[in-house]
Amino acid sequence: MIRFLSLIAIIVTFAASASAQEAAGDSRASTGGAQTLADILERQEGLKVDETFRSEATGNPDAAAPITNQLGTLGGASDPELWRAYRFGSADISTQSRGPAATTVIQDGGMWWLEFREDTLLTIAVYLLGGTFLALALFYLVRGKIRIGGQKTGRTITRFKAFERFGHWLLASSFIVLGITGLFSLFGRKVLIPLFGHETFSFIAVGSKWVHNNIAWAFIIALIIIFFAWVVHNLPDRTDLRWLAKAGGLFGGEHPPAKKFNAGQKLIFWAVIVLGGSISVSGLSLLFPFEYNLFGHTFSTLNSWGVPGWFGASDLPFPLQPQEEMQYAQLWHALVSLILTAIIFAHIYLGSVGMEGAFDAMGKGEVEEQWAREHHSLWVQDVLGPDDNEKEKV
Ligand code: HEM
Repeated sequence: MIRFLSLIAIIVTFAASASAQEAAGDSRASTGGAQTLADILERQEGLKVDETFRSEATGNPDAAAPITNQLGTLGGASDPELWRAYRFGSADISTQSRGPAATTVIQDGGMWWLEFREDTLLTIAVYLLGGTFLALALFYLVRGKIRIGGQKTGRTITRFKAFERFGHWLLASSFIVLGITGLFSLFGRKVLIPLFGHETFSFIAVGSKWVHNNIAWAFIIALIIIFFAWVVHNLPDRTDLRWLAKAGGLFGGEHPPAKKFNAGQKLIFWAVIVLGGSISVSGLSLLFPFEYNLFGHTFSTLNSWGVPGWFGASDLPFPLQPQEEMQYAQLWHALVSLILTAIIFAHIYLGSVGMEGAFDAMGKGEVEEQWAREHHSLWVQDVLGPDDNEKEKV
Protein backbone atom coordinates (compact mmCIF):
# COMPACT_ATOMS: atom_id res chain seq x y z
CA MET A 1 0.00 0.00 0.00
CA ILE A 2 2.80 2.38 0.99
CA ARG A 3 4.60 1.54 -2.28
CA PHE A 4 1.43 2.27 -4.25
CA LEU A 5 0.94 5.63 -2.51
CA SER A 6 4.61 6.54 -3.06
CA LEU A 7 4.25 5.71 -6.77
CA ILE A 8 1.21 7.98 -7.04
CA ALA A 9 3.07 10.74 -5.19
CA ILE A 10 6.03 10.45 -7.61
CA ILE A 11 3.75 10.49 -10.68
CA VAL A 12 1.83 13.52 -9.37
CA THR A 13 5.09 15.37 -8.62
CA PHE A 14 6.48 14.69 -12.11
CA ALA A 15 3.20 15.62 -13.78
CA ALA A 16 3.02 18.86 -11.80
CA SER A 17 6.61 19.82 -12.59
CA ALA A 18 6.10 18.97 -16.28
CA SER A 19 3.04 21.16 -16.49
CA ALA A 20 4.90 23.93 -14.60
CA GLN A 21 7.70 23.72 -17.18
CA GLU A 22 5.20 23.86 -20.01
CA ALA A 23 3.59 26.87 -18.47
CA ALA A 24 7.01 28.38 -17.78
CA GLY A 25 7.58 28.39 -21.50
CA ASP A 26 4.52 30.62 -21.96
CA SER A 27 5.23 33.50 -24.22
CA ARG A 28 4.59 37.02 -23.00
CA ALA A 29 1.73 37.31 -25.50
CA SER A 30 -0.23 34.52 -23.85
CA THR A 31 -0.48 36.60 -20.66
CA GLY A 32 -1.42 39.73 -22.54
CA GLY A 33 2.00 41.30 -21.79
CA ALA A 34 1.81 40.61 -18.06
CA GLN A 35 4.23 38.41 -16.11
CA THR A 36 4.48 34.75 -17.07
CA LEU A 37 4.86 31.68 -14.90
CA ALA A 38 8.55 31.71 -15.87
CA ASP A 39 8.92 35.16 -14.28
CA ILE A 40 7.19 34.01 -11.11
CA LEU A 41 9.35 30.89 -10.85
CA GLU A 42 12.53 32.90 -11.44
CA ARG A 43 11.54 35.35 -8.72
CA GLN A 44 10.76 32.51 -6.31
CA GLU A 45 14.21 31.06 -6.95
CA GLY A 46 15.74 34.45 -6.17
CA LEU A 47 16.93 34.90 -9.80
CA LYS A 48 17.04 38.26 -11.47
CA VAL A 49 13.80 38.89 -13.40
CA ASP A 50 13.81 41.09 -16.46
CA GLU A 51 11.16 43.65 -15.52
CA THR A 52 11.23 45.63 -18.76
CA PHE A 53 7.89 44.11 -19.84
CA ARG A 54 6.26 46.25 -17.16
CA SER A 55 8.78 48.98 -16.35
CA GLU A 56 8.33 50.17 -19.95
CA ALA A 57 4.55 49.59 -20.07
CA THR A 58 3.69 52.96 -18.55
CA GLY A 59 1.44 54.38 -21.24
CA ASN A 60 2.17 56.91 -23.94
CA PRO A 61 1.14 60.54 -23.35
CA ASP A 62 1.67 61.27 -27.07
CA ALA A 63 -1.07 58.81 -27.90
CA ALA A 64 -3.46 60.40 -25.42
CA ALA A 65 -7.04 60.77 -26.50
CA PRO A 66 -8.20 64.40 -26.75
CA ILE A 67 -9.57 65.68 -23.46
CA THR A 68 -13.03 65.84 -25.05
CA ASN A 69 -13.06 62.10 -25.76
CA GLN A 70 -14.05 59.32 -23.45
CA LEU A 71 -11.17 58.61 -20.93
CA GLY A 72 -9.23 61.49 -22.49
CA THR A 73 -8.40 62.80 -19.00
CA LEU A 74 -6.09 59.82 -18.40
CA GLY A 75 -3.44 61.50 -20.54
CA GLY A 76 -2.43 58.39 -22.45
CA ALA A 77 -1.89 56.18 -19.41
CA SER A 78 -4.28 53.86 -17.63
CA ASP A 79 -4.22 53.54 -13.84
CA PRO A 80 -2.09 50.37 -13.86
CA GLU A 81 0.33 52.09 -16.24
CA LEU A 82 0.55 55.08 -13.93
CA TRP A 83 1.23 52.85 -10.89
CA ARG A 84 3.94 51.06 -12.85
CA ALA A 85 5.52 54.42 -13.66
CA TYR A 86 5.50 55.24 -9.93
CA ARG A 87 7.01 51.89 -9.10
CA PHE A 88 9.82 52.09 -11.66
CA GLY A 89 10.58 55.75 -11.02
CA SER A 90 9.61 57.07 -14.46
CA ALA A 91 6.48 59.03 -13.46
CA ASP A 92 6.69 62.79 -13.76
CA ILE A 93 6.05 63.66 -10.12
CA SER A 94 6.16 67.06 -8.53
CA THR A 95 5.81 67.49 -4.78
CA GLN A 96 5.73 70.39 -2.36
CA SER A 97 8.35 68.65 -0.26
CA ARG A 98 11.79 69.20 -1.75
CA GLY A 99 13.59 66.30 -0.01
CA PRO A 100 15.67 64.04 -2.27
CA ALA A 101 13.42 61.01 -1.74
CA ALA A 102 10.12 62.92 -1.86
CA THR A 103 9.36 62.02 -5.46
CA THR A 104 9.79 58.28 -4.88
CA VAL A 105 6.20 57.19 -4.31
CA ILE A 106 6.79 53.43 -4.49
CA GLN A 107 10.16 51.90 -3.63
CA ASP A 108 10.66 48.60 -5.34
CA GLY A 109 13.70 47.17 -3.53
CA GLY A 110 12.60 47.05 0.09
CA MET A 111 11.72 43.40 0.59
CA TRP A 112 15.04 41.75 -0.21
CA TRP A 113 16.77 44.33 1.96
CA LEU A 114 14.40 43.68 4.85
CA GLU A 115 14.88 39.92 4.59
CA PHE A 116 18.65 40.24 4.30
CA ARG A 117 18.76 42.59 7.28
CA GLU A 118 16.53 40.45 9.49
CA ASP A 119 17.72 36.96 8.59
CA THR A 120 20.94 36.77 6.58
CA LEU A 121 22.77 39.40 8.64
CA LEU A 122 21.76 37.70 11.88
CA THR A 123 23.09 34.36 10.59
CA ILE A 124 26.34 36.01 9.47
CA ALA A 125 26.69 37.72 12.87
CA VAL A 126 26.16 34.50 14.82
CA TYR A 127 28.64 32.50 12.73
CA LEU A 128 31.26 35.25 12.49
CA LEU A 129 31.29 36.47 16.08
CA GLY A 130 30.42 33.11 17.65
CA GLY A 131 32.97 31.31 15.42
CA THR A 132 35.75 33.79 16.27
CA PHE A 133 34.96 33.52 19.96
CA LEU A 134 35.07 29.71 19.85
CA ALA A 135 38.28 29.71 17.79
CA LEU A 136 39.97 31.98 20.37
CA ALA A 137 38.73 29.83 23.25
CA LEU A 138 40.11 26.76 21.46
CA PHE A 139 43.41 28.52 20.79
CA TYR A 140 43.65 29.40 24.48
CA LEU A 141 43.00 25.80 25.47
CA VAL A 142 45.58 24.42 23.03
CA ARG A 143 48.31 27.08 23.20
CA GLY A 144 47.61 28.63 26.58
CA LYS A 145 48.77 32.09 27.58
CA ILE A 146 51.84 33.30 25.69
CA ARG A 147 54.34 33.78 28.54
CA ILE A 148 57.48 35.86 28.78
CA GLY A 149 60.05 33.14 28.03
CA GLY A 150 63.26 34.58 29.48
CA GLN A 151 64.23 36.00 32.84
CA LYS A 152 62.37 39.24 33.69
CA THR A 153 64.73 42.19 34.19
CA GLY A 154 62.60 44.28 36.51
CA ARG A 155 63.29 47.24 34.23
CA THR A 156 60.66 48.82 31.95
CA ILE A 157 60.69 50.65 28.64
CA THR A 158 58.16 53.32 27.65
CA ARG A 159 56.07 51.79 24.88
CA PHE A 160 53.25 54.28 24.35
CA LYS A 161 53.07 57.96 25.36
CA ALA A 162 49.97 59.29 27.13
CA PHE A 163 48.68 60.80 23.88
CA GLU A 164 48.90 57.44 22.07
CA ARG A 165 47.13 55.68 24.93
CA PHE A 166 44.45 58.36 24.96
CA GLY A 167 43.86 57.81 21.23
CA HIS A 168 43.78 54.02 21.68
CA TRP A 169 41.35 54.03 24.61
CA LEU A 170 39.09 56.60 22.97
CA LEU A 171 38.99 54.34 19.92
CA ALA A 172 38.48 51.17 21.97
CA SER A 173 35.80 52.51 24.31
CA SER A 174 33.84 54.21 21.51
CA PHE A 175 34.11 51.06 19.35
CA ILE A 176 32.76 48.85 22.13
CA VAL A 177 29.84 51.22 22.86
CA LEU A 178 29.10 51.53 19.13
CA GLY A 179 29.28 47.75 18.74
CA ILE A 180 26.79 47.07 21.54
CA THR A 181 24.33 49.84 20.59
CA GLY A 182 24.69 48.89 16.92
CA LEU A 183 23.79 45.26 17.68
CA PHE A 184 20.78 46.48 19.72
CA SER A 185 19.56 48.53 16.76
CA LEU A 186 20.21 45.73 14.27
CA PHE A 187 18.76 42.73 16.07
CA GLY A 188 16.83 44.30 18.96
CA ARG A 189 13.41 43.73 17.40
CA LYS A 190 14.14 40.06 16.90
CA VAL A 191 16.18 39.27 20.01
CA LEU A 192 15.38 41.85 22.70
CA ILE A 193 11.59 42.27 22.22
CA PRO A 194 10.93 38.58 23.01
CA LEU A 195 13.17 38.91 26.10
CA PHE A 196 12.10 42.26 27.56
CA GLY A 197 8.85 43.20 25.78
CA HIS A 198 8.00 46.23 23.65
CA GLU A 199 8.00 48.89 26.39
CA THR A 200 11.50 48.15 27.67
CA PHE A 201 12.84 47.64 24.16
CA SER A 202 11.46 51.00 23.08
CA PHE A 203 13.49 52.65 25.87
CA ILE A 204 16.63 50.66 24.92
CA ALA A 205 16.19 51.38 21.21
CA VAL A 206 15.73 55.15 21.60
CA GLY A 207 18.71 55.32 23.98
CA SER A 208 20.87 53.12 21.73
CA LYS A 209 20.18 55.23 18.70
CA TRP A 210 21.03 58.47 20.54
CA VAL A 211 24.24 57.05 22.01
CA HIS A 212 25.27 55.40 18.72
CA ASN A 213 24.75 58.57 16.65
CA ASN A 214 26.72 60.75 19.07
CA ILE A 215 29.55 58.43 20.12
CA ALA A 216 30.30 57.93 16.40
CA TRP A 217 32.15 61.26 16.44
CA ALA A 218 34.52 60.06 19.19
CA PHE A 219 35.33 56.98 17.08
CA ILE A 220 36.06 59.08 13.99
CA ILE A 221 38.30 61.47 15.95
CA ALA A 222 40.15 58.57 17.60
CA LEU A 223 40.63 56.92 14.21
CA ILE A 224 42.30 60.08 12.92
CA ILE A 225 44.50 60.33 16.05
CA ILE A 226 45.80 56.76 15.87
CA PHE A 227 46.28 57.01 12.11
CA PHE A 228 48.66 59.95 12.43
CA ALA A 229 50.27 58.62 15.61
CA TRP A 230 51.14 55.18 14.22
CA VAL A 231 51.10 55.23 10.43
CA VAL A 232 54.91 55.55 10.12
CA HIS A 233 55.38 52.47 12.27
CA ASN A 234 52.90 50.47 10.20
CA LEU A 235 54.40 50.81 6.74
CA PRO A 236 55.24 47.33 5.46
CA ASP A 237 58.91 46.32 5.23
CA ARG A 238 61.08 43.20 4.83
CA THR A 239 60.98 42.18 8.49
CA ASP A 240 57.25 41.56 8.06
CA LEU A 241 57.81 38.76 5.53
CA ARG A 242 60.08 36.92 7.94
CA TRP A 243 57.64 37.47 10.78
CA LEU A 244 54.74 36.16 8.69
CA ALA A 245 56.72 33.16 7.44
CA LYS A 246 57.18 32.12 11.08
CA ALA A 247 53.58 33.02 11.96
CA GLY A 248 55.03 35.36 14.57
CA GLY A 249 56.35 32.41 16.58
CA LEU A 250 52.79 32.04 17.80
CA PHE A 251 52.92 28.28 17.93
CA GLY A 252 55.87 27.96 20.24
CA GLY A 253 58.75 28.70 17.85
CA GLU A 254 61.38 31.39 18.51
CA HIS A 255 60.19 35.01 18.28
CA PRO A 256 61.02 36.51 14.88
CA PRO A 257 62.52 40.03 15.06
CA ALA A 258 60.06 42.93 14.83
CA LYS A 259 60.13 46.71 14.98
CA LYS A 260 57.64 48.75 17.03
CA PHE A 261 54.75 46.85 15.43
CA ASN A 262 55.05 43.32 14.04
CA ALA A 263 53.34 42.20 10.81
CA GLY A 264 50.28 40.89 12.69
CA GLN A 265 49.82 44.23 14.41
CA LYS A 266 50.30 46.06 11.12
CA LEU A 267 47.47 43.97 9.66
CA ILE A 268 45.28 44.90 12.63
CA PHE A 269 46.22 48.56 12.24
CA TRP A 270 45.32 48.66 8.54
CA ALA A 271 42.13 46.66 9.12
CA VAL A 272 41.12 49.23 11.74
CA ILE A 273 41.98 52.17 9.46
CA VAL A 274 40.42 50.81 6.24
CA LEU A 275 37.38 49.03 7.69
CA GLY A 276 36.92 51.65 10.44
CA GLY A 277 37.17 54.37 7.78
CA SER A 278 34.59 52.63 5.62
CA ILE A 279 32.28 52.18 8.62
CA SER A 280 32.68 55.90 9.39
CA VAL A 281 31.89 57.02 5.83
CA SER A 282 28.85 54.73 5.47
CA GLY A 283 27.78 55.78 8.98
CA LEU A 284 27.92 59.45 8.00
CA SER A 285 25.76 58.71 4.97
CA LEU A 286 23.22 57.10 7.33
CA LEU A 287 23.45 60.02 9.75
CA PHE A 288 22.72 62.52 6.97
CA PRO A 289 20.23 60.56 4.84
CA PHE A 290 20.22 61.05 1.06
CA GLU A 291 23.17 63.47 1.14
CA TYR A 292 25.84 61.18 -0.32
CA ASN A 293 25.35 58.73 -3.18
CA LEU A 294 28.12 56.31 -2.31
CA PHE A 295 26.76 53.14 -3.84
CA GLY A 296 25.20 54.35 -7.10
CA HIS A 297 28.53 55.90 -8.12
CA THR A 298 30.52 52.85 -7.03
CA PHE A 299 28.19 50.42 -8.82
CA SER A 300 28.26 52.39 -12.07
CA THR A 301 32.08 52.60 -11.96
CA LEU A 302 32.40 48.87 -11.26
CA ASN A 303 29.95 48.14 -14.10
CA SER A 304 31.90 50.33 -16.51
CA TRP A 305 35.09 48.38 -15.66
CA GLY A 306 33.16 45.13 -16.20
CA VAL A 307 33.95 43.92 -12.66
CA PRO A 308 30.69 41.94 -12.08
CA GLY A 309 31.45 40.03 -15.32
CA TRP A 310 34.78 38.79 -13.87
CA PHE A 311 32.70 36.79 -11.39
CA GLY A 312 30.08 35.73 -13.94
CA ALA A 313 27.54 38.09 -12.35
CA SER A 314 25.24 40.52 -14.14
CA ASP A 315 25.69 44.28 -13.79
CA LEU A 316 25.13 45.85 -10.39
CA PRO A 317 21.91 47.87 -10.12
CA PHE A 318 22.18 51.43 -11.40
CA PRO A 319 20.75 54.05 -11.08
CA LEU A 320 19.63 53.58 -7.47
CA GLN A 321 16.64 55.25 -5.91
CA PRO A 322 17.51 57.39 -2.84
CA GLN A 323 16.04 54.77 -0.49
CA GLU A 324 18.10 52.02 -2.15
CA GLU A 325 21.24 54.08 -1.50
CA MET A 326 20.34 54.08 2.19
CA GLN A 327 19.58 50.35 2.18
CA TYR A 328 22.98 49.52 0.69
CA ALA A 329 24.69 51.93 3.10
CA GLN A 330 22.95 50.23 6.04
CA LEU A 331 23.91 46.72 4.94
CA TRP A 332 27.50 47.70 4.19
CA HIS A 333 27.82 49.56 7.51
CA ALA A 334 26.54 46.54 9.45
CA LEU A 335 28.52 43.93 7.51
CA VAL A 336 31.87 45.73 7.70
CA SER A 337 31.27 46.45 11.41
CA LEU A 338 30.69 42.75 12.06
CA ILE A 339 33.90 41.82 10.22
CA LEU A 340 35.94 44.41 12.15
CA THR A 341 34.38 43.28 15.43
CA ALA A 342 35.51 39.70 14.76
CA ILE A 343 39.05 40.96 14.05
CA ILE A 344 38.97 43.09 17.21
CA PHE A 345 37.91 40.04 19.27
CA ALA A 346 41.26 38.48 18.35
CA HIS A 347 43.07 41.74 19.12
CA ILE A 348 41.46 42.11 22.54
CA TYR A 349 42.32 38.49 23.34
CA LEU A 350 46.03 38.98 22.53
CA GLY A 351 46.15 42.39 24.22
CA SER A 352 44.73 41.02 27.48
CA VAL A 353 44.41 37.37 28.60
CA GLY A 354 46.27 35.89 25.63
CA MET A 355 49.74 37.32 26.21
CA GLU A 356 51.62 37.98 29.42
CA GLY A 357 52.89 41.54 29.68
CA ALA A 358 50.99 42.93 26.65
CA PHE A 359 48.28 44.85 28.50
CA ASP A 360 50.84 46.96 30.39
CA ALA A 361 51.78 48.58 27.08
CA MET A 362 48.37 50.25 26.85
CA GLY A 363 47.56 50.20 30.56
CA LYS A 364 50.63 51.90 32.02
CA GLY A 365 52.50 52.75 28.84
CA GLU A 366 55.53 50.84 30.19
CA VAL A 367 56.53 47.26 29.34
CA GLU A 368 58.95 44.79 30.91
CA GLU A 369 62.22 45.01 28.99
CA GLN A 370 62.37 41.24 28.52
CA TRP A 371 58.86 41.24 26.97
CA ALA A 372 59.96 43.97 24.58
CA ARG A 373 63.14 42.04 23.64
CA GLU A 374 61.13 38.92 22.88
CA HIS A 375 58.36 40.53 20.86
CA HIS A 376 59.92 43.69 19.39
CA SER A 377 63.68 43.10 19.39
CA LEU A 378 64.49 45.62 16.63
CA TRP A 379 62.42 48.29 18.34
CA VAL A 380 64.32 47.74 21.62
CA GLN A 381 67.60 48.25 19.75
CA ASP A 382 66.19 51.48 18.37
CA VAL A 383 65.04 52.74 21.76
CA LEU A 384 68.00 51.70 23.92
CA GLY A 385 70.59 52.24 21.22
CA PRO A 386 73.16 49.64 20.08
CA ASP A 387 75.53 50.39 22.95
CA ASP A 388 73.06 49.75 25.72
CA ASN A 389 71.90 46.73 23.90
CA GLU A 390 75.37 45.29 23.62
CA LYS A 391 75.88 45.92 27.34
CA GLU A 392 72.70 43.93 28.03
CA LYS A 393 73.99 40.98 26.06
CA VAL A 394 77.28 40.79 28.01
C1 HEM B 1 39.33 46.19 25.79
C2 HEM B 1 39.77 46.19 24.58
C3 HEM B 1 41.19 46.37 24.12
C4 HEM B 1 42.37 45.99 24.70
C5 HEM B 1 42.58 45.27 26.03
C6 HEM B 1 43.43 46.40 23.82
C7 HEM B 1 44.78 46.26 24.05
C8 HEM B 1 45.80 46.71 23.26
C9 HEM B 1 47.21 46.64 23.55
C10 HEM B 1 47.79 46.02 24.80
C11 HEM B 1 47.88 47.17 22.51
C12 HEM B 1 49.41 47.34 22.39
C13 HEM B 1 50.07 46.10 21.89
C14 HEM B 1 51.56 46.27 21.90
O1 HEM B 1 52.11 46.95 22.76
O2 HEM B 1 52.25 45.72 21.04
C15 HEM B 1 46.90 47.62 21.54
C16 HEM B 1 47.20 48.20 20.33
C17 HEM B 1 46.27 48.55 19.37
N1 HEM B 1 44.89 48.52 19.52
FE1 HEM B 1 43.89 47.78 21.12
N2 HEM B 1 42.86 46.98 22.70
C18 HEM B 1 41.50 46.99 22.86
C19 HEM B 1 40.56 47.46 21.96
C20 HEM B 1 40.85 47.99 20.73
C21 HEM B 1 39.88 48.39 19.76
C22 HEM B 1 38.36 48.28 19.97
C23 HEM B 1 40.54 48.84 18.66
C24 HEM B 1 40.01 49.36 17.36
C25 HEM B 1 38.78 49.46 17.01
C26 HEM B 1 41.95 48.71 18.95
C27 HEM B 1 42.95 49.05 18.07
C28 HEM B 1 44.31 48.94 18.34
C29 HEM B 1 45.35 49.20 17.37
C30 HEM B 1 45.14 49.65 15.94
C31 HEM B 1 46.55 48.96 18.01
C32 HEM B 1 47.98 49.06 17.40
C33 HEM B 1 48.28 47.82 16.59
C34 HEM B 1 48.30 46.57 17.45
O3 HEM B 1 48.96 46.55 18.50
O4 HEM B 1 47.63 45.61 17.06
N3 HEM B 1 42.11 48.20 20.20
N4 HEM B 1 45.66 47.35 22.02
